[in-house]
Amino acid sequence: MQPHYRFAGYMGKCVHLGVCGSIAAYKSLDLMRAYQEADCIVSATLTDACTKFVQGLSFEALGASPVYTSMFDGGPKADTAFGHLEPGQTADVMVIAPASANTIAKLAFGLADDMLSCQALAFPGPKIVAPAMNPRMWSAPATQRNWGMLRELGYIQVEPESGHVACGDIGKGRLASSEEILTATLKAISPQDLAGKKILITLGPTREPWDGVRFWSNPSSGIMGACMAMAAHLRGAEVSVVAGPTDLRFPSGIEVVSVTTASQMFQACTDLWSSMDIGCLTAAVADYHPVVYGSDKFKKTESNGAGLTIEFEPNQDILKTLGDSKAEHQRLIGFAAETSCLKEEAARKLMSKNLDLIAANDISRQGSGFGVPTNQMFVLDSHGRKEMWPQLSKTEVAWRLWDHLLLG
Ligand code: CTP
Repeated sequence: MQPHYRFAGYMGKCVHLGVCGSIAAYKSLDLMRAYQEADCIVSATLTDACTKFVQGLSFEALGASPVYTSMFDGGPKADTAFGHLEPGQTADVMVIAPASANTIAKLAFGLADDMLSCQALAFPGPKIVAPAMNPRMWSAPATQRNWGMLRELGYIQVEPESGHVACGDIGKGRLASSEEILTATLKAISPQDLAGKKILITLGPTREPWDGVRFWSNPSSGIMGACMAMAAHLRGAEVSVVAGPTDLRFPSGIEVVSVTTASQMFQACTDLWSSMDIGCLTAAVADYHPVVYGSDKFKKTESNGAGLTIEFEPNQDILKTLGDSKAEHQRLIGFAAETSCLKEEAARKLMSKNLDLIAANDISRQGSGFGVPTNQMFVLDSHGRKEMWPQLSKTEVAWRLWDHLLLG
């Protein structure tokens, strides 16, 4: 699980996982681990068909408790008279992954003829369904009608992915990734206090080419921006990320525009800014780009082997450009990576770039800066509020920064 999926605020939340008969049933064990990494408590119900693929013991061994199977004939919870109602009293969210065509049909019509369908019918909280099946079964009119009925009934839907499926066919029907289902689950139990807000986030480094193979850049991993994006998405915002080159993955609900150079990032941000409510610019943008040598690879020769001087030209300041054109209803967050005069530099950048909030960190400190999952922030806003936070995970920093902005 990448670091921007590791939020601490879900500790102790109870997820009830329903697993249907599918070759993808083994993937629900991986999903269960993802919930456990988020410190959630997991219980499970396996349909009869699921137990032909994966046994209850596997879920128990990995820590699911309780694990329900058949309603009447044996199984660990057969002696519980009201097992079919229990998740509704204890769990915060119910997730059916993988959901088979059969179970989707039962949920659509309100049938309750096994433990899982009874529990789903009696569950009052948010319910998430992530199907997995053969592409022809998925596209069958009956399945599509039932899927539409689940939407109308308020189920949160995680669409299957396209690709090769176990039987050799190619098409839509693969179970969505654990990260995708985890995101939908955490969102379902998060406060939706950023709902209705459109948020632009920049992240990662930029790369400024010099010749056909070389570029000028920095070691930014983009993790801080990714945490800001995930936290905003989980809290209901519509998030657009403009990302420099990184290996970060985002759930499908976050729009990602990939760029390489500062000038491409500038263009993407200025195109989007007027339609946004909030901008949060975390990217480590190169302030200068080298004067390009050419599209060929630079060759070392005897005449230039003794030394090399490269000329640089300035890039535009994206944050300042957005700040200068900021409308009354818009809010702008900046970041500052410093090696000295942290507070003074934060105050200067807050003013000069017309920001509402700035989060500054001393990148010379251990555990605060490029490539690490933690940060220690000095936070200053346009109302004069200033706070020095302890070293926190970047997900925690992101969550607190949105809290801080929402204070007004
Ligand atoms: N930033 C930007 N465009 C640039 C440079 C910086 O949008 N061309 C943004 C960064 O994303 C960050 C903030 O401005 O939110 C501050 O970046 P930083 O590099 O700390 O400051 P600079 O203004 O570049 O000043 P200096 O490098 O001299 O500290």
